[in-house]
Amino acid sequence: MSQEQNRPLRVGLLGIGTVGSGTFTVLKRNQEEIRRRAGHGIEITMVADLNTERAREVVGDAAQVVADARQVIANPDIDVVVELIGGYGIAKALVLEAIAAGKHVVTANKALLAVHGTEIFAAAREKGVMVAFEAAVAGGIPIIKALREGLTANQIQWVAGIINGTTNFILSEMRDKGLDFDVVLKEAQRLGYAEADPTFDIEGVDAAHKATLMSAIAFGVPVQFDKAHVEGITKLSATDIKYAEQLGYRIKLLGIARRQEINGKVVGIELRTHPTLVPMRRLIANVEGAMNAVMVQGDAVGTTMYYGKGAGSEPTASAVVADLVDIARLLDVDPAARVPYLAFQPDALSKMPILPIDEVVTSFYLRLHVADEAGVLAKITGILAEQGISIDAVLQREADEVSGEGGNQTDLIILTHETKEGRMNTALAAMQALPTVLAPIVRVRKEELA
Ligand code: HSE
Repeated sequence: MSQEQNRPLRVGLLGIGTVGSGTFTVLKRNQEEIRRRAGHGIEITMVADLNTERAREVVGDAAQVVADARQVIANPDIDVVVELIGGYGIAKALVLEAIAAGKHVVTANKALLAVHGTEIFAAAREKGVMVAFEAAVAGGIPIIKALREGLTANQIQWVAGIINGTTNFILSEMRDKGLDFDVVLKEAQRLGYAEADPTFDIEGVDAAHKATLMSAIAFGVPVQFDKAHVEGITKLSATDIKYAEQLGYRIKLLGIARRQEINGKVVGIELRTHPTLVPMRRLIANVEGAMNAVMVQGDAVGTTMYYGKGAGSEPTASAVVADLVDIARLLDVDPAARVPYLAFQPDALSKMPILPIDEVVTSFYLRLHVADEAGVLAKITGILAEQGISIDAVLQREADEVSGEGGNQTDLIILTHETKEGRMNTALAAMQALPTVLAPIVRVRKEELA
């Protein structure tokens, strides 16, 4: 090997918070192992952070610390820029500038790629540089690598994951302690599991960003976050978690990307994030606390599952460093011969549409608070039958339990078989209009993940 081929990969970090400091620590601790794997040393030689003091505490004399990220991008000695700032604002400008300057980019920024990925990948292709983003989905779990490379023989049928630790922690606590969402959220914030502004997590946006990235890699479609259906966990009640449990299900916030086929013909891609009933006997239903897990169903491999920490300093650093090793290994490879960013060759992306939520095929959990009198169940099942929706199970609570001794109101819980969501919406409107349905109907989607 020539001197140049053997030289270390020089990395500039933009942001040295939790993930940045983890990256620095892991690279330092495992530097010898990593060099043997990558064929090059990997050195963080420059760090940009507005808090230069904190940055210096982390890196000591090992790297130059600056406040201005553009100094890193302008440095001709830097090969790779690692963007750990987050968000779509300045991070987008810096990533595009780094690409324009001919730097490879590693990013953990799912929001940026899910929304602006098409523009960023096109710019990178033009410049012949890599954009790697293992850390953007499910933290330390190498799910991008699995989808893009390990499962490349397969036609992927669906991907479904618990890809937001904050919400999984909240749901686990709600189930364990029988508490409602608001109470658990406050506790999660106190313990540092949820951020002061938890909107992106609890409203499902973070999970939907990650599901969008997985949909692109699984199906060879462009990243299209604007077409994703996004629903969080804020409206879930402890009551529904309890009833689901009695029927053998857990409620999880799933990010789902699924190829929908009707009579053997692919009609489009479902891309949706929402609370979902999952059979308790599935491994994924037992993923608790802040852990993440992703299931992938491929036609050759069958069902696979990947489990691990979806956030945190060193777990996320594990993914960042894996991307750096990939870049080091592929430095001297012709860009056209590298694994494509989105797993499919850029000129082979599919125009398969992302289906509107009304077109999604799924099954449902319904909870209806009803008057406990003759004919109520018959009317409800009649409405479902009119829409061709088949019932899988019905659970009716004792009226006394629901509305007190001598009470004449009760909860009716219905599980359905699969149907188009649009049909369910029509049925729900008709059921809600019945005078014997006394409160807004609760509807949660259900997936068997078989
Ligand atoms: N906020 C995310 C979560 C971690 O709760 O899983 C970073 O993606």
